[in-house]
Amino acid sequence: MPEPTHVMWGGRFAEPMDPRLDRLNRSLPVDRRLWREDLATNRAWARALERGGVLTAAERDALLAGLDQVEAALAAGAADTAGDEDIHSLVERLLGEAAGPVAGKLHTGRSRNDQVATDLRLWTMAALERLDAGLLGAARALVTRAEAGVDVLLPAYTHTQRAQPVRLAHWALAHAWPLLRDRERLRQARGRAAVLPLGSGAIAGSGFAVDREALARDLGFGAVSANSMDAVGDRDFTVDAVFVAALVGTHLSRLAEDLILFSTAEFGFVRLAEPFTTGSSLMPQKRNPDALELVRGAAGQLVGHLVALLVTLKAMPTGYQKDLQENNAGLFAALDLAEGAAALLAGVVETLAPDPGRMAAALDPSVLATDLADLLVQAGVAFREAHAVVGALVRRAEELGVPLVDVAPEEAARLHPALRGALAALGGPAEAVERRRIAGGTGRSAVLAQLAAARQALGA
Ligand code: ARG
Repeated sequence: MPEPTHVMWGGRFAEPMDPRLDRLNRSLPVDRRLWREDLATNRAWARALERGGVLTAAERDALLAGLDQVEAALAAGAADTAGDEDIHSLVERLLGEAAGPVAGKLHTGRSRNDQVATDLRLWTMAALERLDAGLLGAARALVTRAEAGVDVLLPAYTHTQRAQPVRLAHWALAHAWPLLRDRERLRQARGRAAVLPLGSGAIAGSGFAVDREALARDLGFGAVSANSMDAVGDRDFTVDAVFVAALVGTHLSRLAEDLILFSTAEFGFVRLAEPFTTGSSLMPQKRNPDALELVRGAAGQLVGHLVALLVTLKAMPTGYQKDLQENNAGLFAALDLAEGAAALLAGVVETLAPDPGRMAAALDPSVLATDLADLLVQAGVAFREAHAVVGALVRRAEELGVPLVDVAPEEAARLHPALRGALAALGGPAEAVERRRIAGGTGRSAVLAQLAAARQALGA
């Protein structure tokens, strides 16, 4: 590990840091990701100090020109090999090399505590926007699938057992809605992140009369924090962001799980495109749904990151503690992973090939049993009795080894006289989905209305 090159706090120390502390304390390998945000924060602070009369215009300009050089160095990878304690120390060192002694004035009235909180909020706001783009892509892919699947029927499953027929569009939209709700959550999380901590100092507020409202506008924040003690230790915005990432992961994982089942030889409802599958090193015939398994696996990681965050925060005394630094890697990893999973699943959904024939073949007449009971109800039978009568018919069909609808009408009529008429009126899966024109149901008009609502939510 390279030697530390610029320490921001050495004055009161006679002895160097023990290497075992340095190993865990040094956060640059993780927080170098914040370099753009740290530059933005530094620039805004230089401008704010000048507006507050702390710096002259010439000093501010020298600092801004120096920060431009620091930006060039960081863009060229200066943080990749540096041995500094963290991104803030590195920027300050590079600024000193670029601008000379004036660099020593930039940390006036500021602490790394309010600085890192500000950087992290800026990073989180941008990361939530990237995740939103990923979610939009996945939701769009599902809505496009739905548009093409209005008249394709398949069984819906409860307890992974065939239940009732639905339109493929209905299934696809059942996975689009959770993602659309996640976009709403993202917007809310972004709004809560957009509160400026800078000006809070280490814990008691900056000792210099900086205009925090102007600073907030300069950095794109919507408000300033109300309490400096709260502001430096508050990582609720990371919990919000990682919670949304974990819930996105959970939703994507459920979709992945459906598609893993649907793509088995046993179901055969969809065929995954080759670029989203892998082979086996041993079994030459294999084509595996690794993309979907990775998405399912990502959900576990994401939930873990959320739990790690909450556990760190629960015992935190007021204000900043170094424990908080440990959470940054998880925040970055969670938002990267959720975005990657959303992008990957969008690709899988866009490229898969549905097999309507296999879906239709899975619609054995047992999925019409509920409709048969409903028809008995329409003939005046109480639903509980209708349920029992159709249950008896199902049992009889199983004994005879024939589909439900092929039990002879005379035999069915012996179970209940109204069964003969109900069986004659039953029709097939197409009639069953059409009986549910209720809002949110499987009827064509209901599904088309649902599609229009989903398209509108996509645009919003
Ligand atoms: N690298 C630190 C972090 O990410 C910056 C804050 C350091 N503050 C301090 N009081 N040591 O949390």
